[in-house]
Amino acid sequence: MSAATVEIIENHELIPAFGTENFETKRFDQIIDRERNCYNRAQHKIDATDFFQKLLQITLPICIAFFLVYFEKLVKMTPGSIASIFTFTLILTNQIGDFGKGILGAMEISERIRVALNKLKCPFHLRAAIKKEGDIEPTSWEIRFENVNFSYRKDRGALANINLEIKENEKIGIIGYSGAGKTTLIKLLRGFYTPDAGQIYIGGNNLEKISPRSLTQNIAEVSQTIPLFHRSIRENVAYGCADVNDDEIWETLRRAQIADYVKRLPDGLDSIVGVRGQRLSGGEKARIGIARALIRKSKIIIFDEATAALDSESELLIQKGLEELVKGRTLIAIAHRLSTLRKMEKIIVLDKGQIVAEGTHDELIKQNILYSRLWNAQVLL
Ligand SMILES: Nc1ncnc2c1ncn2[C@@H]1O[C@H](COP(=O)(O)OP(=O)(O)OP(=O)(O)O)[C@@H](O)[C@H]1O
Ligand SMILES: [Mg+2]
Repeated sequence: MSAATVEIIENHELIPAFGTENFETKRFDQIIDRERNCYNRAQHKIDATDFFQKLLQITLPICIAFFLVYFEKLVKMTPGSIASIFTFTLILTNQIGDFGKGILGAMEISERIRVALNKLKCPFHLRAAIKKEGDIEPTSWEIRFENVNFSYRKDRGALANINLEIKENEKIGIIGYSGAGKTTLIKLLRGFYTPDAGQIYIGGNNLEKISPRSLTQNIAEVSQTIPLFHRSIRENVAYGCADVNDDEIWETLRRAQIADYVKRLPDGLDSIVGVRGQRLSGGEKARIGIARALIRKSKIIIFDEATAALDSESELLIQKGLEELVKGRTLIAIAHRLSTLRKMEKIIVLDKGQIVAEGTHDELIKQNILYSRLWNAQVLL
């Protein structure tokens, strides 16, 4: 139960992002029920233990006292041996007492965890995926940022005056130095944070009015760090998608260039990936993350440095498969490797939280000093 708790806490961003709060709550309830059944089954044993423990605590010292009085007549006992026997009795009765207390304490802790988890269901900065009265399901998915400002801390802004339009099915690249605000822009778009000023619209609707469920179903993301559950490959790939079968999973794994690797594993799709996917390499984790995003039939797909952990050849293969997969979807790709973004219809250059330029690769290389500097630096490498 502690492991399940830790996993939920560690993935507190991932769960609302996939809209699987209900699934996780049910899963956790099942664990609690299992614990409770065990507790009930164990309860009469605990009661019996408690009874014998108390009985022993009373009878043991009395028996020993009689024993000493009786044996004193047969064997010569020293005061030291009498003290030792009493000390041993005392330790024994204490140990029995501690054992009983331990079992009861564990039951108490499990209840406390349950109470704590109930409080954790709605972290303050994440909107709970609960349908509210008047929530909108957008019919189109063009994105508009209007004068958006945002800061994590009062003293330092992360995004300033962002004005941006992304049409439906457009393929957009975002570049900028580390810390420029690229991931923050995505977090705002996904509704994880609310802008301090300005508005974000999807399909002409204010983001705050859009149903969180609709957002999680229509925006898929391969994030910079791929959070994986200590579960099977199947469960990780199909996470939040109840209606996919194994054939679809294999097809997606093929497109994400990881099917051959999974086939070679003794347990195939049932292979457990380890805590946070530690049994996988960085590149394999990235591919599982890509497969997980691709399997969702979302309108918008976001790649935040998704292919950074891959070698150039694998990246190229994924890019080829991607072109077909992202047809009919909006693609937002963030990459430090500019060659990844070269073919994008529009590239946005972010610097210190501001959009400093936007255009195609050819336009930017001529017009924007920052972009050409980044490009030349990579060509030289
Ligand atoms: N949760 C957070 N709390 C406080 N500050 C944050 C948080 N996340 C990001 N920041 C800060 O906001 C700024 C923008 O971060 P962001 O993650 O958007 O950068 P980025 O452009 O994605 O960088 P990278 O290319 O390294 O991923 C950084 O200065 C960062 O330190
Ligand atoms: Mg980032």
